Amino acid sequence: MGHTALLSSRIIRPDNWSIQLPKGFAGALLFLILTTSFQPFDPFSSAALASSVRPPANATVNTPPPPGVTPSKGLTRVPSPDRLRGGEVPGNTLGNRSQSSFWKSVRQGMMGSSDSTQSFPSPLIQSQGQDWRNVRNNYISRFGGWLLIGVAGVLVLFYLIRGRIPIKSGRSGKVIPRFSLTERVVHWFTAVLFILLSVSGLILLFGKYLLIPLIGKSAFGAFASASMQSHNLFGPLFIIAMVAMFFVFLKGNGFKLVDFKWALKGGGFFGGHASAHRYNFGEKAWFWWAIILGVTLSLSGLVLEFPWLAGTNLWPLLAGLAHAGAALLMIAFAIGHIYIGTVGMEGSLEGMTRGTVDENWAREHHDLWYEEHKKEATSNHQTAEAEAAGGNV
Ligand code: HEM
Repeated sequence: MGHTALLSSRIIRPDNWSIQLPKGFAGALLFLILTTSFQPFDPFSSAALASSVRPPANATVNTPPPPGVTPSKGLTRVPSPDRLRGGEVPGNTLGNRSQSSFWKSVRQGMMGSSDSTQSFPSPLIQSQGQDWRNVRNNYISRFGGWLLIGVAGVLVLFYLIRGRIPIKSGRSGKVIPRFSLTERVVHWFTAVLFILLSVSGLILLFGKYLLIPLIGKSAFGAFASASMQSHNLFGPLFIIAMVAMFFVFLKGNGFKLVDFKWALKGGGFFGGHASAHRYNFGEKAWFWWAIILGVTLSLSGLVLEFPWLAGTNLWPLLAGLAHAGAALLMIAFAIGHIYIGTVGMEGSLEGMTRGTVDENWAREHHDLWYEEHKKEATSNHQTAEAEAAGGNV
């Protein structure tokens, strides 16, 4: 028998499997099987390798290697002559089984229908997935990642240089009702969902690069799976939250001339005091930005979660790009909003927690709104909080 036959992947079976064994020999064989089968088998142990059938180191192969390629010694797998006669090409290539004209057409946009019994839209095979991966990994992930790092970096720098924006005239001790209980519940419901979706979404987008080197593939697999499940669960709830957000905060978020003056003065950083009603230009911009991106995220998210909603599965590809892009833009803006609502500005957060703000904070940041509400200023915080909860804001 030549080496070629030994190396072939074909299994040669004897025609007659019924071999009569002497009784004593059969007993010994059974004993041998029972005793050896409880030994752990390591296919790469030196014993296993030594006992495996291997070609001698100087074995020759029956196909000349391509120019510049040195044939490896040892366990080289060579196609059998039958298969080579059929035109198969060694080296894991499709050879004569490659339907190049078919794939060329697919690459040029040819589509067909699928016989799949699953409720998934056609075409299952298309070339646009490559473009999708290219745009997602080379543009959206890369620029989105730098955008988030850039925004966080600018805010850290801003904080280090300017510090926290204080209530310049100090706290007055008197408070004014600012946000009703409904407004606060809707705000925090949306905010918590947004943070959960952001964290799980970022794990899905960047985890492959950031987490696998830290925690390994298995732990990342569990993490990614949990992220996917929670993202799919919280996504539809976020849509409900955004609709509620729109209706609850719409009043007072229409742009007025004074808002553009506020923007030109950089919110008071240059050009003197910048006047504002209940919401300033930055807040109004955030509201509309969140609504526009929220709608984009919701629609694209629905297509991703329920792909059969789209007539063709090219829509989920576009939806995936729109979803990731809109999410990164919204997270970038949200980082700014969260910064100014917490460490960035003294006296801001309590409006969204207790429902009331200090009178001096109101005068310094929302003077036009303050003028309308200064009668309500009281040093009785409990009364003011009850008024706020009841919706008298
Ligand atoms: C931890 C996360 C968040 C914090 C700490 C936070 C904090 C605040 C604070 C303190 C205010 C009151 C500002 C004022 O009195 O003028 C506010 C208002 C608001 N927040 Fe947030 N927020 C967070 C997340 C979000 C998210 C994720 C959204 C939207 C998806 C959002 C949308 C709004 C809106 C619409 C307002 C009303 C002001 C406006 O119309 O712009 N917030 N937030």
